[in-house]
Amino acid sequence: MLGHQNKLDTTARVGLDIGHHTVNGVEVVERASEIVIRSAGSAAIPGLRSKQDLPEPSAVAHAIKSLWSSARFASRKVVLALPPTAVYMKWLHLEAADEEELEQTASAAASRGAPFPAGDAITDYRILSWRCAGSRKVYFTLLVAASASIMEDMLNTVESAGLEPVAVDIGVAAAVRSASSRTQASGILWSGQPKAHCIMGAKNTTIAVIRENALEFARTVPVGGNDFTERIAEHAGLSWAEAEKIKMAPGVRLNGECAMVASGGSGEIRVPCEQVVGRLAREIQRSLKFFKSQYAEGSYLGMIGGTTASGGGALLKGLDSCLQDHGIEINGIVNPFAGFSVAAESGGVQDVGDNAAAYTTAVGLATADYWHAARDEDLEAVA
Ligand SMILES: Nc1ncnc2c1ncn2[C@@H]1O[C@H](COP(=O)(O)OP(=O)(O)OP(=O)(O)O)[C@@H](O)[C@H]1O
Ligand SMILES: [Mg+2]
Repeated sequence: MLGHQNKLDTTARVGLDIGHHTVNGVEVVERASEIVIRSAGSAAIPGLRSKQDLPEPSAVAHAIKSLWSSARFASRKVVLALPPTAVYMKWLHLEAADEEELEQTASAAASRGAPFPAGDAITDYRILSWRCAGSRKVYFTLLVAASASIMEDMLNTVESAGLEPVAVDIGVAAAVRSASSRTQASGILWSGQPKAHCIMGAKNTTIAVIRENALEFARTVPVGGNDFTERIAEHAGLSWAEAEKIKMAPGVRLNGECAMVASGGSGEIRVPCEQVVGRLAREIQRSLKFFKSQYAEGSYLGMIGGTTASGGGALLKGLDSCLQDHGIEINGIVNPFAGFSVAAESGGVQDVGDNAAAYTTAVGLATADYWHAARDEDLEAVA
Protein backbone atom coordinates (compact mmCIF):
# COMPACT_ATOMS: atom_id res chain seq x y z
CA MET A 1 0.00 0.00 0.00
CA LEU A 2 2.84 2.37 0.73
CA GLY A 3 3.96 2.02 -2.85
CA HIS A 4 7.51 0.80 -2.28
CA GLN A 5 8.04 -1.33 -5.30
CA ASN A 6 10.69 -1.85 -7.91
CA LYS A 7 9.31 -2.64 -11.32
CA LEU A 8 11.35 -5.77 -11.98
CA ASP A 9 10.43 -9.13 -13.40
CA THR A 10 7.67 -10.08 -11.01
CA THR A 11 6.32 -13.25 -12.57
CA ALA A 12 7.76 -15.31 -9.68
CA ARG A 13 8.02 -14.00 -6.14
CA VAL A 14 7.67 -15.02 -2.53
CA GLY A 15 5.31 -13.40 -0.05
CA LEU A 16 7.43 -13.41 3.11
CA ASP A 17 5.73 -12.85 6.46
CA ILE A 18 8.33 -12.35 9.18
CA GLY A 19 6.72 -12.67 12.60
CA HIS A 20 7.92 -12.73 16.20
CA HIS A 21 7.95 -16.52 16.17
CA THR A 22 7.89 -17.84 12.61
CA VAL A 23 8.74 -16.84 9.05
CA ASN A 24 6.03 -17.99 6.64
CA GLY A 25 6.64 -17.90 2.89
CA VAL A 26 4.49 -18.53 -0.17
CA GLU A 27 5.98 -18.60 -3.66
CA VAL A 28 3.75 -17.81 -6.62
CA VAL A 29 4.27 -17.62 -10.33
CA GLU A 30 2.13 -15.78 -12.88
CA ARG A 31 0.91 -17.95 -15.76
CA ALA A 32 -0.96 -15.81 -18.29
CA SER A 33 -3.36 -13.93 -16.03
CA GLU A 34 -3.49 -16.64 -13.38
CA ILE A 35 -1.50 -16.66 -10.16
CA VAL A 36 -0.34 -20.18 -9.31
CA ILE A 37 1.10 -21.30 -5.96
CA ARG A 38 4.55 -22.86 -6.50
CA SER A 39 5.49 -23.68 -2.93
CA ALA A 40 4.85 -22.75 0.69
CA GLY A 41 6.64 -23.34 3.94
CA SER A 42 7.57 -21.97 7.34
CA ALA A 43 10.53 -21.90 9.70
CA ALA A 44 10.53 -21.10 13.41
CA ILE A 45 12.93 -18.31 14.42
CA PRO A 46 15.58 -19.91 16.63
CA GLY A 47 16.79 -18.74 20.04
CA LEU A 48 13.53 -17.47 21.59
CA ARG A 49 13.36 -18.18 25.31
CA SER A 50 10.39 -16.19 26.61
CA LYS A 51 7.31 -14.24 25.66
CA GLN A 52 9.24 -10.97 25.89
CA ASP A 53 12.12 -12.08 23.64
CA LEU A 54 12.39 -10.20 20.37
CA PRO A 55 13.98 -12.14 17.52
CA GLU A 56 17.59 -11.21 16.72
CA PRO A 57 18.09 -10.10 13.08
CA SER A 58 20.72 -12.85 12.65
CA ALA A 59 18.21 -15.47 13.89
CA VAL A 60 15.59 -14.15 11.44
CA ALA A 61 18.14 -14.34 8.59
CA HIS A 62 18.95 -17.91 9.67
CA ALA A 63 15.24 -18.89 9.62
CA ILE A 64 14.82 -17.30 6.17
CA LYS A 65 17.76 -19.28 4.79
CA SER A 66 16.45 -22.55 6.18
CA LEU A 67 12.98 -21.75 4.80
CA TRP A 68 14.44 -21.23 1.31
CA SER A 69 16.09 -24.60 1.38
CA SER A 70 13.21 -26.55 2.98
CA ALA A 71 10.48 -25.03 0.77
CA ARG A 72 12.75 -25.11 -2.30
CA PHE A 73 11.80 -21.58 -3.31
CA ALA A 74 13.29 -20.71 -6.72
CA SER A 75 12.80 -16.94 -6.60
CA ARG A 76 14.80 -14.54 -4.45
CA LYS A 77 12.33 -11.70 -5.02
CA VAL A 78 10.25 -11.07 -1.94
CA VAL A 79 7.24 -9.03 -0.93
CA LEU A 80 7.41 -8.14 2.75
CA ALA A 81 4.91 -7.13 5.42
CA LEU A 82 5.41 -4.34 7.92
CA PRO A 83 4.61 -5.53 11.45
CA PRO A 84 1.90 -3.75 13.49
CA THR A 85 4.59 -1.92 15.56
CA ALA A 86 5.82 -0.19 12.40
CA VAL A 87 2.42 0.96 11.22
CA TYR A 88 0.03 3.58 12.58
CA MET A 89 -3.40 3.62 10.97
CA LYS A 90 -6.46 5.73 11.51
CA TRP A 91 -9.73 6.43 9.79
CA LEU A 92 -10.82 10.06 9.55
CA HIS A 93 -13.39 12.21 7.81
CA LEU A 94 -11.35 14.98 6.17
CA GLU A 95 -12.84 18.02 4.50
CA ALA A 96 -11.20 19.41 1.36
CA ALA A 97 -12.11 21.26 -1.83
CA ASP A 98 -10.51 18.58 -4.03
CA GLU A 99 -8.10 15.64 -3.93
CA GLU A 100 -5.07 17.91 -4.15
CA GLU A 101 -6.01 19.69 -0.93
CA LEU A 102 -6.96 16.33 0.59
CA GLU A 103 -3.47 14.99 -0.13
CA GLN A 104 -1.85 17.81 1.86
CA THR A 105 -4.30 17.48 4.76
CA ALA A 106 -4.00 13.67 4.78
CA SER A 107 -0.20 13.52 4.80
CA ALA A 108 -0.02 16.06 7.66
CA ALA A 109 -2.66 14.16 9.66
CA ALA A 110 -1.35 10.63 9.04
CA SER A 111 1.68 10.73 11.35
CA ARG A 112 0.03 12.80 14.12
CA GLY A 113 -0.16 10.57 17.21
CA ALA A 114 2.06 7.82 15.71
CA PRO A 115 4.31 5.93 18.18
CA PHE A 116 7.37 7.03 16.17
CA PRO A 117 8.66 10.53 15.26
CA ALA A 118 6.97 12.35 12.35
CA GLY A 119 10.43 12.65 10.73
CA ASP A 120 10.64 8.84 10.64
CA ALA A 121 7.20 8.43 9.06
CA ILE A 122 6.33 7.51 5.49
CA THR A 123 2.68 8.40 4.94
CA ASP A 124 -0.04 7.26 2.60
CA TYR A 125 -3.84 7.35 2.46
CA ARG A 126 -6.81 5.79 0.71
CA ILE A 127 -10.21 7.37 0.07
CA LEU A 128 -12.88 4.90 1.23
CA SER A 129 -15.89 7.07 0.40
CA TRP A 130 -16.84 10.72 0.03
CA ARG A 131 -19.84 13.05 0.08
CA CYS A 132 -20.47 16.65 -0.92
CA ALA A 133 -20.69 19.30 1.79
CA GLY A 134 -21.66 22.51 -0.01
CA SER A 135 -18.82 23.52 -2.34
CA ARG A 136 -16.42 21.19 -0.49
CA LYS A 137 -16.24 17.44 0.01
CA VAL A 138 -15.93 15.23 3.07
CA TYR A 139 -13.68 12.25 2.39
CA PHE A 140 -13.73 9.18 4.60
CA THR A 141 -10.06 8.18 4.50
CA LEU A 142 -7.72 5.51 5.79
CA LEU A 143 -4.52 7.28 6.85
CA VAL A 144 -1.31 5.29 7.21
CA ALA A 145 2.08 6.21 8.67
CA ALA A 146 4.91 3.69 8.61
CA SER A 147 8.22 3.85 10.44
CA ALA A 148 11.01 4.27 7.87
CA SER A 149 13.65 3.03 10.33
CA ILE A 150 11.80 -0.22 11.17
CA MET A 151 11.29 -0.77 7.44
CA GLU A 152 15.02 -0.14 6.84
CA ASP A 153 15.99 -2.69 9.53
CA MET A 154 13.67 -5.26 7.98
CA LEU A 155 15.06 -4.67 4.48
CA ASN A 156 18.63 -5.03 5.83
CA THR A 157 17.78 -8.35 7.52
CA VAL A 158 16.19 -9.70 4.35
CA GLU A 159 19.07 -8.54 2.16
CA SER A 160 21.55 -10.12 4.57
CA ALA A 161 19.78 -13.43 3.86
CA GLY A 162 20.51 -12.93 0.15
CA LEU A 163 17.01 -11.85 -0.93
CA GLU A 164 15.80 -9.00 -3.08
CA PRO A 165 12.81 -7.09 -1.67
CA VAL A 166 10.49 -5.87 -4.44
CA ALA A 167 7.60 -4.47 -2.41
CA VAL A 168 6.60 -3.73 1.17
CA ASP A 169 2.99 -3.88 2.29
CA ILE A 170 1.15 -3.53 5.57
CA GLY A 171 0.76 -6.93 7.21
CA VAL A 172 -2.89 -6.54 8.18
CA ALA A 173 -3.78 -5.22 4.70
CA ALA A 174 -2.21 -8.31 3.11
CA ALA A 175 -3.92 -10.71 5.54
CA VAL A 176 -7.30 -9.10 5.11
CA ARG A 177 -6.98 -9.08 1.32
CA SER A 178 -6.35 -12.79 1.30
CA ALA A 179 -8.91 -13.61 4.01
CA SER A 180 -11.70 -11.59 2.39
CA SER A 181 -11.17 -12.98 -1.10
CA ARG A 182 -11.15 -16.54 0.32
CA THR A 183 -14.37 -15.87 2.20
CA GLN A 184 -15.95 -14.77 -1.07
CA ALA A 185 -14.56 -17.88 -2.78
CA SER A 186 -16.18 -20.07 -0.17
CA GLY A 187 -19.56 -18.61 -1.07
CA ILE A 188 -20.32 -16.49 2.00
CA LEU A 189 -22.25 -13.39 1.01
CA TRP A 190 -19.90 -10.41 1.24
CA SER A 191 -22.21 -7.45 1.27
CA GLY A 192 -21.89 -3.89 2.50
CA GLN A 193 -22.13 -5.26 5.99
CA PRO A 194 -18.81 -5.18 7.87
CA LYS A 195 -17.07 -8.47 8.75
CA ALA A 196 -14.39 -9.01 11.34
CA HIS A 197 -11.21 -11.00 10.89
CA CYS A 198 -8.79 -11.81 13.72
CA ILE A 199 -5.17 -12.49 12.80
CA MET A 200 -3.77 -14.42 15.76
CA GLY A 201 0.01 -14.46 15.84
CA ALA A 202 2.50 -15.38 18.55
CA LYS A 203 2.91 -12.06 20.33
CA ASN A 204 -0.09 -10.16 18.96
CA THR A 205 -3.59 -10.50 17.65
CA THR A 206 -4.91 -7.98 15.15
CA ILE A 207 -8.65 -7.45 15.00
CA ALA A 208 -9.64 -6.07 11.62
CA VAL A 209 -12.98 -5.00 10.18
CA ILE A 210 -13.51 -5.20 6.43
CA ARG A 211 -16.34 -3.74 4.40
CA GLU A 212 -16.62 -4.51 0.69
CA ASN A 213 -13.00 -5.70 0.71
CA ALA A 214 -11.71 -2.41 2.19
CA LEU A 215 -10.03 -2.40 5.58
CA GLU A 216 -12.11 -0.16 7.78
CA PHE A 217 -10.65 -0.73 11.21
CA ALA A 218 -7.71 -2.56 12.77
CA ARG A 219 -6.40 -2.78 16.29
CA THR A 220 -3.51 -4.90 17.52
CA VAL A 221 -3.60 -6.29 21.04
CA PRO A 222 -0.72 -8.00 22.87
CA VAL A 223 -2.24 -11.49 23.24
CA GLY A 224 -1.39 -14.51 21.07
CA GLY A 225 0.06 -17.99 20.88
CA ASN A 226 2.99 -17.02 23.15
CA ASP A 227 0.60 -16.56 26.06
CA PHE A 228 -0.44 -20.22 25.85
CA THR A 229 3.20 -21.32 25.72
CA GLU A 230 3.92 -19.18 28.78
CA ARG A 231 1.00 -20.77 30.68
CA ILE A 232 2.36 -24.27 29.95
CA ALA A 233 5.91 -23.26 30.97
CA GLU A 234 4.68 -21.72 34.25
CA HIS A 235 2.20 -24.45 35.12
CA ALA A 236 4.44 -27.43 34.34
CA GLY A 237 7.76 -25.77 35.31
CA LEU A 238 9.19 -26.27 31.83
CA SER A 239 11.52 -24.24 29.65
CA TRP A 240 10.02 -22.13 26.86
CA ALA A 241 11.25 -24.56 24.19
CA GLU A 242 9.78 -27.58 26.03
CA ALA A 243 6.45 -25.81 26.55
CA GLU A 244 6.30 -24.80 22.88
CA LYS A 245 6.97 -28.42 21.86
CA ILE A 246 4.12 -29.67 24.05
CA LYS A 247 1.71 -27.08 22.64
CA MET A 248 2.51 -28.09 19.06
CA ALA A 249 2.29 -31.85 19.63
CA PRO A 250 -0.43 -33.68 17.65
CA GLY A 251 -3.73 -34.06 19.49
CA VAL A 252 -3.24 -31.11 21.86
CA ARG A 253 -6.40 -29.11 22.39
CA LEU A 254 -8.29 -26.80 24.69
CA ASN A 255 -11.16 -28.67 26.35
CA GLY A 256 -14.59 -27.35 27.40
CA GLU A 257 -13.07 -25.72 30.51
CA CYS A 258 -10.40 -23.96 28.42
CA ALA A 259 -7.72 -26.25 29.86
CA MET A 260 -5.01 -27.39 27.48
CA VAL A 261 -4.81 -31.15 27.46
CA ALA A 262 -1.46 -32.52 26.33
CA SER A 263 0.73 -35.48 27.01
CA GLY A 264 4.01 -34.70 28.78
CA GLY A 265 6.91 -37.02 29.67
CA SER A 266 5.11 -38.34 32.77
CA GLY A 267 1.57 -38.68 31.42
CA GLU A 268 -1.22 -36.25 30.69
CA ILE A 269 -0.82 -32.55 31.47
CA ARG A 270 -3.78 -30.22 31.99
CA VAL A 271 -2.98 -26.53 31.87
CA PRO A 272 -5.78 -24.11 32.80
CA CYS A 273 -5.85 -21.44 30.05
CA GLU A 274 -9.09 -19.72 31.03
CA GLN A 275 -7.27 -16.44 31.79
CA VAL A 276 -5.56 -16.26 28.39
CA VAL A 277 -8.75 -17.09 26.49
CA GLY A 278 -10.68 -14.56 28.63
CA ARG A 279 -8.12 -11.85 27.91
CA LEU A 280 -8.20 -12.56 24.18
CA ALA A 281 -12.02 -12.59 24.12
CA ARG A 282 -12.19 -9.31 26.07
CA GLU A 283 -9.74 -7.61 23.71
CA ILE A 284 -11.66 -8.79 20.64
CA GLN A 285 -14.94 -7.67 22.21
CA ARG A 286 -13.52 -4.28 23.17
CA SER A 287 -12.15 -3.67 19.70
CA LEU A 288 -15.40 -4.59 17.98
CA LYS A 289 -17.36 -2.47 20.47
CA PHE A 290 -15.13 0.49 19.65
CA PHE A 291 -15.71 -0.04 15.93
CA LYS A 292 -19.47 -0.16 16.52
CA SER A 293 -19.40 2.98 18.69
CA GLN A 294 -18.40 5.03 15.65
CA TYR A 295 -21.89 4.56 14.23
CA ALA A 296 -25.28 5.60 15.54
CA GLU A 297 -26.96 3.17 17.97
CA GLY A 298 -28.58 0.33 16.01
CA SER A 299 -27.06 1.45 12.68
CA TYR A 300 -26.64 -1.33 10.15
CA LEU A 301 -23.25 0.20 9.25
CA GLY A 302 -21.75 -0.82 12.59
CA MET A 303 -23.22 -4.32 12.80
CA ILE A 304 -20.53 -6.94 12.29
CA GLY A 305 -21.87 -9.72 10.06
CA GLY A 306 -19.48 -12.48 11.17
CA THR A 307 -15.98 -13.12 12.47
CA THR A 308 -13.30 -15.32 10.93
CA ALA A 309 -9.77 -16.03 12.14
CA SER A 310 -6.35 -16.92 10.79
CA GLY A 311 -2.68 -16.84 11.85
CA GLY A 312 -0.64 -19.53 13.59
CA GLY A 313 -2.29 -18.76 16.93
CA ALA A 314 -5.70 -19.72 15.48
CA LEU A 315 -4.42 -23.27 14.85
CA LEU A 316 -4.74 -24.18 18.51
CA LYS A 317 -7.53 -26.76 18.52
CA GLY A 318 -10.54 -25.91 20.65
CA LEU A 319 -9.67 -22.18 20.81
CA ASP A 320 -12.66 -21.28 18.63
CA SER A 321 -15.16 -23.04 20.90
CA CYS A 322 -13.52 -21.59 24.04
CA LEU A 323 -13.83 -18.11 22.50
CA GLN A 324 -17.45 -18.87 21.70
CA ASP A 325 -18.06 -19.68 25.40
CA HIS A 326 -16.67 -16.19 26.07
CA GLY A 327 -19.09 -14.54 23.64
CA ILE A 328 -16.93 -14.44 20.49
CA GLU A 329 -18.37 -16.51 17.70
CA ILE A 330 -15.69 -17.52 15.19
CA ASN A 331 -17.46 -18.45 11.93
CA GLY A 332 -14.46 -20.10 10.33
CA ILE A 333 -10.70 -20.46 10.23
CA VAL A 334 -9.58 -19.16 6.85
CA ASN A 335 -7.72 -21.34 4.34
CA PRO A 336 -5.94 -18.74 2.15
CA PHE A 337 -4.92 -21.35 -0.47
CA ALA A 338 -8.49 -22.33 -1.34
CA GLY A 339 -9.33 -21.54 -4.94
CA PHE A 340 -5.71 -21.22 -6.15
CA SER A 341 -4.08 -23.64 -8.59
CA VAL A 342 -0.90 -25.28 -7.36
CA ALA A 343 2.04 -25.88 -9.75
CA ALA A 344 2.58 -29.61 -10.20
CA GLU A 345 6.35 -29.54 -10.73
CA SER A 346 7.31 -27.70 -7.54
CA GLY A 347 7.15 -28.16 -3.78
CA GLY A 348 3.44 -27.29 -3.76
CA VAL A 349 1.64 -27.00 -0.47
CA GLN A 350 2.15 -30.52 0.89
CA ASP A 351 4.23 -29.19 3.82
CA VAL A 352 1.42 -26.88 4.83
CA GLY A 353 -0.83 -29.72 6.01
CA ASP A 354 -3.44 -28.49 8.48
CA ASN A 355 -1.57 -25.22 9.02
CA ALA A 356 -2.97 -23.29 6.04
CA ALA A 357 -4.44 -20.55 8.24
CA ALA A 358 -0.92 -19.51 9.30
CA TYR A 359 -0.24 -18.37 5.72
CA THR A 360 -2.95 -15.73 5.24
CA THR A 361 -0.50 -12.81 5.33
CA ALA A 362 2.09 -14.53 3.12
CA VAL A 363 -0.58 -15.46 0.52
CA GLY A 364 -1.93 -11.89 0.58
CA LEU A 365 1.59 -10.52 0.01
CA ALA A 366 2.43 -12.94 -2.81
CA THR A 367 -0.84 -12.57 -4.70
CA ALA A 368 -1.36 -8.79 -4.53
CA ASP A 369 -1.34 -6.92 -7.79
CA TYR A 370 1.22 -4.21 -6.90
CA TRP A 371 2.89 -4.27 -10.30
CA HIS A 372 -0.09 -4.08 -12.60
CA ALA A 373 -1.40 -1.09 -10.66
CA ALA A 374 2.05 0.55 -10.92
CA ARG A 375 2.29 -0.27 -14.65
CA ASP A 376 -1.19 1.19 -15.25
CA GLU A 377 -0.13 4.39 -13.47
CA ASP A 378 3.00 4.56 -15.67
CA LEU A 379 0.91 4.10 -18.81
CA GLU A 380 -1.43 6.87 -17.72
CA ALA A 381 1.58 9.13 -17.03
CA VAL A 382 3.01 8.39 -20.50
CA ALA A 383 -0.31 8.95 -22.32
N1 LIG B 1 -0.50 -26.31 15.18
C1 LIG B 1 -0.44 -25.35 16.08
N2 LIG B 1 -1.11 -25.45 17.24
C2 LIG B 1 -1.07 -24.46 18.17
N3 LIG B 1 -0.36 -23.34 18.03
C3 LIG B 1 0.35 -23.20 16.89
C4 LIG B 1 0.34 -24.18 15.86
N4 LIG B 1 1.15 -23.75 14.86
C5 LIG B 1 1.62 -22.56 15.26
N5 LIG B 1 1.15 -22.21 16.47
C6 LIG B 1 1.45 -21.01 17.22
O1 LIG B 1 1.19 -19.89 16.40
C7 LIG B 1 2.12 -18.84 16.71
C8 LIG B 1 2.86 -18.48 15.45
O2 LIG B 1 1.92 -18.00 14.52
P1 LIG B 1 2.32 -16.91 13.44
O3 LIG B 1 3.34 -17.48 12.52
O4 LIG B 1 1.05 -16.40 12.86
O5 LIG B 1 2.98 -15.83 14.40
P2 LIG B 1 4.07 -14.73 14.11
O6 LIG B 1 3.70 -14.05 12.83
O7 LIG B 1 5.43 -15.31 14.22
O8 LIG B 1 3.82 -13.76 15.37
P3 LIG B 1 3.31 -12.25 15.39
O9 LIG B 1 2.27 -12.11 14.32
O10 LIG B 1 2.75 -12.06 16.77
O11 LIG B 1 4.53 -11.43 15.12
C9 LIG B 1 3.07 -19.38 17.77
O12 LIG B 1 2.62 -18.99 19.05
C10 LIG B 1 2.91 -20.90 17.60
O13 LIG B 1 3.20 -21.60 18.79
MG1 LIG C 1 2.34 -12.58 12.27
